[in-house]
Amino acid sequence: MNKLTVVLGAVVLLGAGFFVGKAGKDEPTVIKVGSAPAGEFKSEASGEVAAKSTLGERPLPANVVIVKDGESIQDAVRTAEPGTTIKVMPGTYKETIYIDKDDIALSGVIDKGAYPILEGEGLRNDAILYSGNNVTVENFWITHYKGNGIMGQAGNNFVIRNNVVVDTGIYGIFPQLGKNGLVSHNIISGIEDAAIYVGMSDNIDVVYNEVYGSVAGIEIENSRHALVEANYVYDNTGGILAFITPGLPIKTCSDVIFRNNFIVNNNHENFAIPGSLVSNIPQGVGMIIMACDDVVVEGNIISGNDTMGIAITDFSLASNAANDPDSEPNPNRPVILNNIMLNNGNNPVAEVRAILATMMETTGPDIIDTVGMDDGCILNPERFRTIGLGKYSDCDYATTSTVATYTMAEPVPPRSMEDLDQGELAYHGICAGCHAYNSRMIGPPTQILQALYMDNPEGIAEYIANPVKKRPDYPEMPPQNYLDEETRLAVAKYMLSVKK
Ligand code: HEC
Repeated sequence: MNKLTVVLGAVVLLGAGFFVGKAGKDEPTVIKVGSAPAGEFKSEASGEVAAKSTLGERPLPANVVIVKDGESIQDAVRTAEPGTTIKVMPGTYKETIYIDKDDIALSGVIDKGAYPILEGEGLRNDAILYSGNNVTVENFWITHYKGNGIMGQAGNNFVIRNNVVVDTGIYGIFPQLGKNGLVSHNIISGIEDAAIYVGMSDNIDVVYNEVYGSVAGIEIENSRHALVEANYVYDNTGGILAFITPGLPIKTCSDVIFRNNFIVNNNHENFAIPGSLVSNIPQGVGMIIMACDDVVVEGNIISGNDTMGIAITDFSLASNAANDPDSEPNPNRPVILNNIMLNNGNNPVAEVRAILATMMETTGPDIIDTVGMDDGCILNPERFRTIGLGKYSDCDYATTSTVATYTMAEPVPPRSMEDLDQGELAYHGICAGCHAYNSRMIGPPTQILQALYMDNPEGIAEYIANPVKKRPDYPEMPPQNYLDEETRLAVAKYMLSVKK
């Protein structure tokens, strides 16, 4: 089915009675005068969060190694003891860097505007991959990679800041399975999926980033306790998203604060890989809350997004949702505090325009709830053009300012991976970026590969360690030999077991 047809179809079914923005005919609009609601925001944060993020103030390790132009950063990482700061001088570095140790800071030296440049040349998959804890990555210029700019796999207490990531593949900055992390002051553009993508993580601050010219600006996916604040998010297909991707090993998304962001003119054509989840994002949407619970939207300026300002929805955007009975589809308890919303919906995508026409409307809404949640709340609803918010009540608090950060007061211990199936994890974290079940993405469909390799996971494990070019009409598959042998076999087995 097509894009938002599904999303907005729900609204048509619910009928025009939902059009609360228009309810003025029989009921006078009540305009409240006076002070804000007196209640206090209660965060369900687990453990003690810091008063403000102290992660950014963590001193870099005192043991310093210097890498100069012409030398290899990976060589320096290989020989570094935990507790080393690797200073990288300006220059051009054509490599992929794996950090599988704890307590490493990879710290670029910027000299009068000259950066250390990580250059993928359109050949390499990833610029920086880390799996260690207490890793800092800062001050790099990353460009022309095919997969990820900076990706974390299960590293806790991370800091990713002051990087410029341009024209680099599928994910710009992608911490996955991390707890207690800070992503700040990065500039990211030209990304085919998400510029900043927080996946299956906890206690993360994403603050003061500039994110533009990408399909999705900032995504909080299957994560809990994320503060997304003071980011400048413009010229993406969709600006800021909180959602559940069904089928992943960690299944919940909750307690997300979207605060004081500038979410402006996100009208970029969708250039995602066909078949990917984000290929369904309609052009011109400021914010999407899909199946994520307890999302608070406060103090943002959301303007000039041509299809709509905020979409609150269930799994209508995710085609494989029916597969995962363990993921709860409703966006429970959405909270819309005071925000500025202006000039949204001026040129909705065709699918949305068609549905608006059935409501005698041509302009997309500031806010739509396609489910019609009855546990949401909104302050000053009369200020906005809304659809589907008829059952929202008044909020009993006006601000989340008691939460200055969702990062932790103290570093957290390393994550145990024992509860996770490594094959399942690697498949969703790595392979699914290129292989969809039954459609062509970057690589051939998983279904075809299942037929090809049927009872032969060893064959897959061998191929992915050292792929050879097979199909003239496909690009080459990048080698997955950074996965150990056991994981390669586990992911091969998992790939053969995936069902539609
Ligand atoms: C960056 C994109 C990308 C990623 C990530 C990726 N693949 Fe691929 N894969 C491809 C492409 C492209 C091809 C087709 C290559 C060709 O035919 O020359 C391919 C082909 C394959 C094949 C077919 C081999 C054959 O004999 O025809 C298998 C099996 C496979 N991939 C498994 C995997 C597994 C398992 C993973 C995860 C660990 C994975 N791929 C990750 C892009 C990717």
